[in-house]
Amino acid sequence: MLAQHRKKLNFLLVITIAGALITQSFNVQQQPVKKLKNIKVFPATATYQEVDHAMDQFKVDLGVKCNYCHAPEKDNPRKMDMPSDDNPKKDIAREMIRMTDEMNKKYISSIKHTESDTAKIQVVTCNTCHRGAPKPFGKPLPPPPPPPGQGPRPVAPPPGR
Ligand code: HEC
Ligand code: HEC
Repeated sequence: MLAQHRKKLNFLLVITIAGALITQSFNVQQQPVKKLKNIKVFPATATYQEVDHAMDQFKVDLGVKCNYCHAPEKDNPRKMDMPSDDNPKKDIAREMIRMTDEMNKKYISSIKHTESDTAKIQVVTCNTCHRGAPKPFGKPLPPPPPPPGQGPRPVAPPPGR
């Protein structure tokens, strides 16, 4: 019974791997693997997908579009030239990545947490400062809207806390 079950599992595994290989080679034929051309800050081992994912996060954290940091193509201004360094915001962003990385490695990582601490892993991200704006706010943010179906948040914490 157990051996049979294991055989079945092995078979499933083989099918999955074969399936993955087939889709992979199909994809390779469909579109060539995208290569990174001008990476100075992200690790050399970073894949195109990983960089792309980080870019989506920058967009959200700073509340901007890709062209905030990337320059247009010279002969087709409707398209963006991602490897180009012509947009000065891109080099500011590089410094920001280095800064954020250093903050985490040098300072945040040395914070000791107690057993009762619920937020054990806290890291600085672009959003820690930017909160959806290209230039971080100099004054406190307004309070978040109340959850749907509830009235406005109480200004003072409820008694007994
Ligand atoms: C806050 C600025 C910023 C925003 C917004 C941004 N990028 Fe980037 N992008 C960078 C920086 C900086 C690099 C280079 C990183 C390095 O040198 O390690 C980069 C690199 C890239 C690369 C690699 C290019 C290469 O081959 O060298 C791609 C692709 C890319 N970005 C796509 C995007 C896309 C798509 C968006 C929108 C979703 C986007 N970026 C938004 C700053 C930004
Ligand atoms: C510790 C706070 C902090 C963190 C973390 C941070 N930034 Fe910034 N960033 C700033 C401040 C402050 C400025 C404005 C500096 C100025 O204009 O004098 C700024 C400016 C920028 C600008 C230029 C905006 C403009 O319009 O001139 C870009 C682009 C940027 N940050 C990208 C990033 C990215 C990408 C990350 C995450 C990798 C990041 N920042 C993380 C504080 C931060």
